[in-house]
Amino acid sequence: MARARIAVIGAGLMGHGIAQVFALAGHDVAIYDSSGQTLATAQDRIRANLKDLGDDQNALDRVTPQADLATALRDADYVVEAVLEDLLLKQKLFGEIEKHVRPDTILASNTSVIPITSIMQGLRRRERAVGTHWWNPPFLVPLVEVIETPWTSAATVECTMKLHADAGKKPAHVKKDVPGFIGNRLQHALWREAISLVENGICDAATVDAVIKASFGRRLAVLGPLENADLVGTDLTLAIHNIVLPHIERSAAPSPYLEKLVADNKLGMKSDHGFYTWTAEQKDALRRRVLNHLKQARANDA
Ligand SMILES: NC(=O)c1ccc[n+]([C@@H]2O[C@H](COP(=O)([O-])OP(=O)(O)OC[C@H]3O[C@@H](n4cnc5c(N)ncnc54)[C@H](O)[C@@H]3O)[C@@H](O)[C@H]2O)c1
Repeated sequence: MARARIAVIGAGLMGHGIAQVFALAGHDVAIYDSSGQTLATAQDRIRANLKDLGDDQNALDRVTPQADLATALRDADYVVEAVLEDLLLKQKLFGEIEKHVRPDTILASNTSVIPITSIMQGLRRRERAVGTHWWNPPFLVPLVEVIETPWTSAATVECTMKLHADAGKKPAHVKKDVPGFIGNRLQHALWREAISLVENGICDAATVDAVIKASFGRRLAVLGPLENADLVGTDLTLAIHNIVLPHIERSAAPSPYLEKLVADNKLGMKSDHGFYTWTAEQKDALRRRVLNHLKQARANDA
């Protein structure tokens, strides 16, 4: 799509960042949110991000907040939904969206983990349904998983992959609509084992995180696990798996340790207690550290 008309539905954390990326890539972006307050601040948030990143401020001229859903969708070539992670809400919204778009408009959901087939099953034209799973913050994390459903046409996948690649993202084609797609399956396989190590008294939370950050975490940005397996040899990988896999956590249910944290209102940073205890300064410092790291990585990519 050369200069496309894109509608972003939901102007929260993800929606405003997605709108920013598409506007920066030269597209005309309409953004809608059912909360007037959130919509009213969308442009200010994008302006602040562009300034902070040293990106072209003129991109903001291509973002138009719309208080009416039908107006936001008018003439859209591509629609991406980033509203709350609620299946019924998303299903209802796509039913409404489909009434206002052309038959060939591509419809994408930015759900984190809900299968795209569950969200889009009620569409009249399901060949245009696709998942696009962005990562936070959308303007700093390169990956967008492009999820194909059994009904998605090859043209829809191809067009969506190209749209994101042309906008400077790294799209990854997920060929089957499995829960968690690729990134979150990998991430939460690691988190399950991390929690299990703490739960079973092998080490504390700080040690788990320190081990990762000081070892394979250092290499992960440039060495994926399967490249790593080839690097050390598949024979060695097999030998390691023969010894280690029987002992690795494989529960199909969330850990009782995690369930107890939640039951005790130890919700992490939002309640100041979780796996760790957090002061306001520590929370700020961690957020700054992550942001600076992602900005540095973006600068290195450029
Ligand atoms: N936060 C993340 O790290 C992340 C990463 C990837 C994907 N996601 C997914 O992206 C989606 C949005 O997440 P978020 O973090 O931006 O949430 P958020 O709470 O910041 O934003 C959601 C927005 O949706 C709006 N909304 C609710 N109902 C609506 C409706 N009917 N029409 C229009 N707008 C409506 C809300 O007013 C809110 O502004 C979710 O599906 C989430 O799972 C989030």
